[in-house]
Amino acid sequence: MKVGLKIVNQEGLTSHQREILKDAQHINGILSKDQGYLVYQSREDSSPFHIDFLKGDFIFRLRTTGKKQPLLKALQFQNQMKVLDMTAGLGRDALTLAYHGAHVIALEKNPVLFLLLEQAYSELVKDPLFKNFKGSVRFIYKDAYDFIETVSEKFDAIYLDPMYPTEEKAAKSKKDVEVLRALASSTENLELLIEQSLQKQPSRLVLKRPPQSEILLKPRHSLEAKLVRFDIYFPDSIQ
Ligand SMILES: C[S@@+](CC[C@H](N)C(=O)[O-])C[C@H]1O[C@@H](n2cnc3c(N)ncnc32)[C@H](O)[C@@H]1O
Repeated sequence: MKVGLKIVNQEGLTSHQREILKDAQHINGILSKDQGYLVYQSREDSSPFHIDFLKGDFIFRLRTTGKKQPLLKALQFQNQMKVLDMTAGLGRDALTLAYHGAHVIALEKNPVLFLLLEQAYSELVKDPLFKNFKGSVRFIYKDAYDFIETVSEKFDAIYLDPMYPTEEKAAKSKKDVEVLRALASSTENLELLIEQSLQKQPSRLVLKRPPQSEILLKPRHSLEAKLVRFDIYFPDSIQ
């Protein structure tokens, strides 16, 4: 397949979307509009994908899983807390936090994923079921390194969920994981990003890792769940 992003019907896109897609030359696949939605295909023969927060098991889990879930525990979740999610991906963790009442800024550096996230969020908040959505999410198209260097705002918690190195083998069938694998960028030099983030004095930084993976720097605590480990760092963890 040809390398690069094929954009079908550029004229159907907004100027904001066209501007962001100027950065998408390195991405493989096809982007088009299907029934008004921006959709992505990693190959000509794969089915079109867009993020839909209202569909499938995600929305069910969102509405039925309480505050005891490991991510919320690792963040020591509190209503109205301000969270910086540095790796938005498919937006599920950001949405989960906001659903429980957090104010979330979620960064994504991949232009196609960012546009899919932005579209999905604007659809979500139109839905009457979500008119009382407690917190809020602001998706920002930015690399976490650039953001953390310049931000002056303080966060109660910073959250990092980089791509797992082993995800290539693990994820064969699920469409969303396949798309994430096709689009998502790996996070370069994670240790440096953790150190720079802790200099912004969040109350804590939570890093999601595969269960048996190597320890990066030295977290103060780790919280083991069935399929993940959350490593928890504090500003004074790093000398
Ligand atoms: C494993 S996914 C996150 C999944 C997410 N927690 C969710 O609930 O869907 C990691 C995402 O972080 C993005 N990413 C990686 N490094 C980044 C960086 N330095 N700045 C911003 N986004 C980054 C990737 O493009 C990818 O979409």
